Amino acid sequence: MADLQAILDDIHAELAPRLGEGKVADYIPQLAHIDPKKFGMSLITVDGAVHKVGDCDEPFSIQSISKVFTLTMALGKHGETTWNRVGREPSGSAFNSIVQLENEGGKPRNPFINAGAIAVSDLVLAGHTPREAIGEIVRFVRYLADDETIVIDPAVAKSEEATGFRNAALANFMRAFGKLTHPVEHVLGVYFHHCALAMTCTQLAHAGLFLAAGGSNPLTGHSVVSSQRARRINALMLTCGHYDGSGEFAYRVGLPGKSGVGGGILAVAPGKAAVTVWSPGLNHNGNSLLGSLALEMFAARTGWSVF
Ligand code: DON
Repeated sequence: MADLQAILDDIHAELAPRLGEGKVADYIPQLAHIDPKKFGMSLITVDGAVHKVGDCDEPFSIQSISKVFTLTMALGKHGETTWNRVGREPSGSAFNSIVQLENEGGKPRNPFINAGAIAVSDLVLAGHTPREAIGEIVRFVRYLADDETIVIDPAVAKSEEATGFRNAALANFMRAFGKLTHPVEHVLGVYFHHCALAMTCTQLAHAGLFLAAGGSNPLTGHSVVSSQRARRINALMLTCGHYDGSGEFAYRVGLPGKSGVGGGILAVAPGKAAVTVWSPGLNHNGNSLLGSLALEMFAARTGWSVF
């Protein structure tokens, strides 16, 4: 067995001279203030070993990584009928693109692009108020991570609510196709709030561990989804988790992963571990630049690529 702690320490040391590379997301004003030199990694194995390095215990905005958790909830509530509302194909387009929606009847390609996650927020609402749905999401993530301290950063949610014109356009466009069942403001309220969940690398690795361990969290014994569903969520993360950079991430890293514009990535090594990284500078696809590189180094050194 490779010395996992040494691998994380080496990656941190080797990337140290490059910290600050990439471009911090500034279209969400509250994220523009983040120190671009932050860097953390956490790894939790299915046997419960925890390894971490750098700013791994500092909360950051998980943004689109939250879409993995809301998809899991929507599947729990609606089962396979979830797929009547959102597809399972990579888009090959930017995360916030509207182009395909018009020709595809307002049905987003997959649950991880913004349009798809907005459709999933509609499914999670399921007749409840936004406040109830947001509370349910926070409770679910706390349950996954076995950590009651996880909260939403209200300033980030507000910042996005004030400037999220593209997301409002996506939601209104889908509503025009009859594809949202709740008022647009309610759906967006849920979406902006789950994107504003603040978590550390370690909390996020804990929350994603069920995907590495066949659907149950081996540390808590909590059963989350069936092993088949865990496999399928991993398949979607591999094919769609990095938007129009998903092919590149699969090629370089070879692990299911989900990125967020806060600079975080949750990666899953099935049967082995959940591994997370945070580095706020992004590449041109809106995925963490050094985070992707760190995971590429990690996968090469552990030999944990799924391929
Ligand atoms: O809706 C947005 O634009 C953000 N709340 C989330 C986008 C995101 O994280 C894309 N990830 N790389």
